[in-house]
Order: sequence, then structure tokens, then C-alpha cells
Amino acid sequence: MFTVQNKVNWNESLEFLMIGVYDHPNKFGDWLEETSPNLQNQLKELVKSGDISAKKKSIAVVHTLGLVGPKRLLFVGLGKKKGLTKEILREAFGKAFQTINKARITAAGIMLDTFVAEGFEPEVVCEVLSEAFALSLYEFNGYKQKPNVPEVSIESLTVYSSTEENSLEEALSVGYIYGQATNAARTLVNTPPNLLTSTDLANYAKGLAEKYSLEIEILEKEDMERLGMGAILAVNQGSVEPPKMIVLKYQGKPEWTDVVGLVGKGITYDTGGYSLKPKTGMVGMKTDMGGAAAVLGAMEIIAQLKPEQNVVAVIPSTDNMVNGNAFKPDDVITSMSGKTIEVTNTDAEGRLVLADGITYAKHHGAEYLVDVATLTGGVITALGSDKTGAMTNNESLYEQVLEASMETDEMIWLLPITEKDKAKVRNSRIADLNNSPTREGHAIMGGAFIGEFAEETPWVHLDIAGSSVINGNHDLGPAGATGVMVRTLALFVESFTKIED
Ligand code: BES
Ligand code: ZN
Ligand code: ZN
Repeated sequence: MFTVQNKVNWNESLEFLMIGVYDHPNKFGDWLEETSPNLQNQLKELVKSGDISAKKKSIAVVHTLGLVGPKRLLFVGLGKKKGLTKEILREAFGKAFQTINKARITAAGIMLDTFVAEGFEPEVVCEVLSEAFALSLYEFNGYKQKPNVPEVSIESLTVYSSTEENSLEEALSVGYIYGQATNAARTLVNTPPNLLTSTDLANYAKGLAEKYSLEIEILEKEDMERLGMGAILAVNQGSVEPPKMIVLKYQGKPEWTDVVGLVGKGITYDTGGYSLKPKTGMVGMKTDMGGAAAVLGAMEIIAQLKPEQNVVAVIPSTDNMVNGNAFKPDDVITSMSGKTIEVTNTDAEGRLVLADGITYAKHHGAEYLVDVATLTGGVITALGSDKTGAMTNNESLYEQVLEASMETDEMIWLLPITEKDKAKVRNSRIADLNNSPTREGHAIMGGAFIGEFAEETPWVHLDIAGSSVINGNHDLGPAGATGVMVRTLALFVESFTKIED
């Protein structure tokens, strides 16, 4: 996939050579002198005419017409060196790779030194580069008899750099692992619900466990009954598909202490149950296991990069269907924690499965909790589709998640949970909790409800109802699942530090 070499050979044939252009009086580096005098003049002219620009994320493809070995030079605008961010760099790389890939060629090269800036050492650039490479070229093939996938795509990338090879190879591999795991999550989310049941999700997790030697436990319906997981069981009541509680464990410390619990909503399809969704609102609900996919993707990264942390991943999974056996509004159910819940809306099912998921994560020793869920339409109204809504009972833990998200450029924004909000989810005349007390601020209601099960354990809730899918194609991938929070969760775990109270 990636090869690192010391210097560009201007006599050697190459389909594409990628070059970074900063906003600087001299748009080109010393490398220009190594090329042919004729090409040098032509390139300078193209800068004057504005065809080659340093404008952020501008792409210019220049054919060299036999003047040098590389057939095409691809110039990537990066703006001012001081203004460079990881986001610009990642998206610029994504755009460049998509341009190259459209040419249906298999090999390309990149002059790494032209991208380097302060804070963007060659290793950092390599990590961003390989991540963008994986993300931007992702495709979901679909099920057409004649798939419209390209016949050829880039298979190898040569990185030309004056820096030591090993450290770059390592960075390239880390970025690629991050990108590939995100793509795996995207594929899970894009897969139609008839082809991805809870059983399929559990089998997928088993595959991960085998491949990366993770410990795995899958609770079957009978196990859930024995453990009193009345909340996930209620959601599953109307389904012919058996529910699964999927648990993956990664132990990176000698003792099973300071365990981080990652809990992902794994609703493989959400009809709303008897509080049925309107027909237009139901389409797309195959993505209601986006939280589960994010957790599985993060575990795939963690299992490969092996940080010195302990992690338990818990995925409560079922679909939310309707039949004669289905749970109903007005039902009162008992969760694993013992807390009773008055069901006022069967479409607020995510918080129910998460209730038992969180309790079970604690049962497995989780001392810190992050849950990820496509929980509410309300978060989309509040923040739009590009942001993840966050809620917490512990600012320090939230800070750590936020810091990770700023590195990965997966935007999150904190919403408050006040004492009055907590009182609302406790507002039931016949049970401890009400799963849908009001539509006002219902993203917050969802968070407040889940928080009742985290109790005193430091906890962050991430509502990805908007951010888990995107409507149009973008620099880092096609329309559809984004794989949001895979990278943030993995980075959060990698850099996690114990909170002293
Ligand atoms: N899965 C939905 C949330 C959702 C909505 C995800 C749009 C992705 C896009 C969730 O289970 C749900 O139905 N939530 C209700 C909560 C309400 C009943 C309190 C909602 O958002 O309307
Ligand atoms: Zn729902
Ligand atoms: Zn749902």
C-alpha cells in the first residue's frame, strides 16, 4: 500500500505526483530546480495565471508532456503555513486522492516535504495522509447486478521524504488503521436491515474478536431474562429476531482496573414500535445501529494499536418492531438496574436498550462510561446534521472526549442536563422513570434518562442521530454513513487519563 522513498526520481515514470503549495512568495520548494528548465518556466507561468494556487484545498492537475518522468503533477493548495489545520490537510488530501482516483490509475507518489509545516511534522502529515487516503476512497458497492464501482483504483502510494523511513511507515500505518476501521463502521451502517440483524452484528463482533484476540461474550435472550434485562427485552418483544447483548473486552493493563466502558446503541431497525414512525420518518432507520458501529470500529483500532488501557465495549442490539407481542405505550418494565420505567413512547427505544447496556458495562467493571447513539431527532433540530450532541455528568471526562474530537475534527457540542431536566424523566406516577416525558428538549430528555443509569459513574453521552449519515458526497467519502465517532472514541481511549476526584 505505502512505500517510503528518499527522493523523487524525475526521470522515472509515474502517473501522478502530489505536491503541496503554501501561500508563500516562492510557491515551489528547492525541488523545482531538479526538474527540466522548460517545465520550471511553465510552472511559474501557471502560478502567475492562477492555474496553480495556494488557495486552501484547491487542486490543479498539470500534464508534464514528457518534460519529466512523472506524467502529471497534482498541486494541492494549503493556504498559509500558519493557518494550516488538520481538518484542511485531511480534506485537501481527500480531494486530491479522489481526483487521482477518477483517472483510474493504480499508483501515485507524494512529495511529503512540500506539506510539512510547524506542528505538521512529517509523521503527522503521514498519519493524516493515510487516514484521508482510506476515508476519501471508501465506497459501498451495494447490490446492483452490475455494480457501478470503478474498475481500477489507487493501490499503491509512494511517499518521498527526507525523513527517516521507519517513523513514517509507522505513522502511515496508524492513519490507515484509523481510516479503515471507520470504513468498516460505515459499511455496517450502510448495510440494509434485512442483511444486518442483531445476530449478524454479533457474528461480526465474533469475527473481530477472533481476528484481534479480544475477549467476547454474547448474551442470548435467555441470559437477558436470567439477568433481568427487562428494558432491552421489552424493545425486542415485537420482533422475530433474537436480541443480543454483545460484549468485547480489551485488556491493556496487568489488572482489570480503570476500565473505560463504550456503549453503543445497536437498533438494527427502528419502526418506532406501536408509537409508529410516519412512513417518511421510517426510511433510513437502518442506520439506528450507528452507535454500535462506532464502538466496534473504535475497538478495531484499539485492538490493533494496543494502548495501555482497559476497555469494555457493550452493544445492546435488537430491532424495534410491531407484532401482537410488542411492548406498548403504558407498559411498565423493570430494567436490569431494578429501576422501573413507564413506557410512554415505544419510539424512545434507544434509551431503553442503553439503560441495560450501561448497567451491564458497570457490571463488567466500567468505571468511566461513554455511550454513543442515534438517539433523537431533536439533536438534529438543535445542532444540525454535522454535529454530535454531547451530555455529561462529569466535565473532566467530557473535556477528554472533546479534546479527542478536536483532533479528529468530528464536531461535538455540549448540551446541559439540569436538575429540572432530571426531575422530568423521573416524572411518572407509577414508575421510577418515564421514557418520554415531553418533546421539549427531547435530546436532553434522552440524555437525562440514560444518565439515571450511569448514576455516579463519570459518563458522557454522544447523540449522533444527525452526524452518523451525510446527504451528499464529500472530500472524505461518499453520501451515506460517516462512521462518525470511530476515530474520536479510539483516540479518546488511547489518550485517556484517570480522573482524580
Ligand atoms: N432512532 C430514533 C432517532 C433518530 C431520528 C435517528 C432521526 C436518526 C434520525 C429514535 O429512536 C427516536 O425515534 N427518537 C424519538 C424520541 C422521541 C420519541 C422522544 C425522536 O427523536 O423523535
Ligand atoms: Zn425510536
Ligand atoms: Zn431509534
